[in-house]
Amino acid sequence: MPHVPATTTTSGAPVASDGHALSVGADGPIVLHDHYLVEKLAQFNRERVPERVVHAKGGGAFGTFRVTGDVTAYTRAALFQPAVETELLARFSSVAGEAGSPDTWRDPRGFAVKFYTSEGNYDLVGNNTPVFFIRDGIKFPDFIHSQKRLPGSHLRDNDMQWAFWTLSPESAHQVTWLMGDRGLPASWRHMDGFGSHTYQWINAAGERFWVKYHFTTQQGIKNLTADEAAALAGSDGDLHIRDLHEHIEAGDHPRWTLSVQVMPYADAAGYRFNPFDLTKVWPHADYPLVEVGVMELNRNPENYFAQIEQATFAPSSFVPGIAASPDKMLLARIFAYADAHRYRVGTNHAQLPVNAPKAPTHSYAQDGAARYTFSAADVPVYAPNSRGGAHADPLRAAESAGWESDGALVRAAASLHSEDDDFGQAGTLYREVFDDEARARFLETITGHVGAVRSDDIRERAIAYWTHVDADLGAKLRANLGA
Ligand code: HEM
Repeated sequence: MPHVPATTTTSGAPVASDGHALSVGADGPIVLHDHYLVEKLAQFNRERVPERVVHAKGGGAFGTFRVTGDVTAYTRAALFQPAVETELLARFSSVAGEAGSPDTWRDPRGFAVKFYTSEGNYDLVGNNTPVFFIRDGIKFPDFIHSQKRLPGSHLRDNDMQWAFWTLSPESAHQVTWLMGDRGLPASWRHMDGFGSHTYQWINAAGERFWVKYHFTTQQGIKNLTADEAAALAGSDGDLHIRDLHEHIEAGDHPRWTLSVQVMPYADAAGYRFNPFDLTKVWPHADYPLVEVGVMELNRNPENYFAQIEQATFAPSSFVPGIAASPDKMLLARIFAYADAHRYRVGTNHAQLPVNAPKAPTHSYAQDGAARYTFSAADVPVYAPNSRGGAHADPLRAAESAGWESDGALVRAAASLHSEDDDFGQAGTLYREVFDDEARARFLETITGHVGAVRSDDIRERAIAYWTHVDADLGAKLRANLGA
């Protein structure tokens, strides 16, 4: 018979019973000095950490990224040099639903990747859509509130959703995308991923480029119909977690090809769309895809909580050769995630094995709750110092990862680009990317969605919104709604 270890307290001492609390006689009161009972109940009370305020429902897996192309002309990032292989963690999620919500509700899907590179962790925290609902982070809490629940009834509410969208016309492109077929992916394996924002790449010579990341699924795009998704929400709410887990377990490792669109630095000012506006794509005819490599997911987490729930992905985790752009949404996110992590997981979240870089760290951060790592006692705790402590890399200061700014402090969106309207790309998606059948399904979806709006003024605004996207679509919607 295999050796069965004794149960212990969390401090390692063997315990007397897993089944009986210490009591005064078999039917008597339990006593406070049964410290194992107290520890067990107290630990249990603290099992949950706050769920992610968005993207709470998700799953993920470990894998590798292998460079197959040559993008050395554009970036000096170690992970993107020829033939380099990097370990990674990916987490997929839905956005608005809570941790127990069904995987098949219509929603964008999160597509977050943590690359454990030789120069520190690089997190690419994107979605399965190339654009987003808003272009300024100051609107994000309001946007999310409108997609979540009413404060009184605790119900989700179409009036709230359409009120926000129609008063934020920059949402039209993303809402068109969401109400289309790709708003209901059949599984996480069958969807593409996007960095969505424009990022900056810097090559070894210090030259700068603007890039957009695209993960193209090698499993092919597969979507659910609205009826299938609704039925599955009731019968198999964890479908996407199960699908990923079972395929990896069976050795069927999903893969994505990573490509980038590369815009020369100087093109940005004169481009027909504001290249830093997250509600816009760059048509591939303007900037074609350049292959970078292949992401494969091949290892399931051993413990969901330790490795997925406590995983912290932050758009502020850059590595040399990759930097931010003037996209205001990205700049807001650079604050938001690390702050969320310090609150949700704790100030020392970066020391947990799933978050810890594989590259050595020499940080002057110290102490805080649940600190695990520390330097030897003779390592200086301040900089600058003359006692051999770490010092900043002058090469980093020389790397020109910035950009020229406009100057005056304003609260405004740039509109210097010839095609910067809110509805143009949404109309192109509807007319030129969707085929006849997709357009018919789209009309049916928005008819149902707008049809569930109770307030006449919001419904009227929604019809106007779709009329701006496409006049014929607006007329058909009006007819369907009998409005
Ligand atoms: C998660 C904020 C826009 C993708 C989160 C979290 C916060 C947040 C606070 C939870 C983080 C955590 O607890 O670990 C914001 C703000 C935004 C914004 C303030 C706008 C300014 C976006 C955009 C994308 C995105 C544009 C995609 C392009 C994600 C993903 C996650 C997430 C994928 C889940 C990461 C994971 O799997 O742990 N966001 N978000 N967010 N967000 Fe955003």
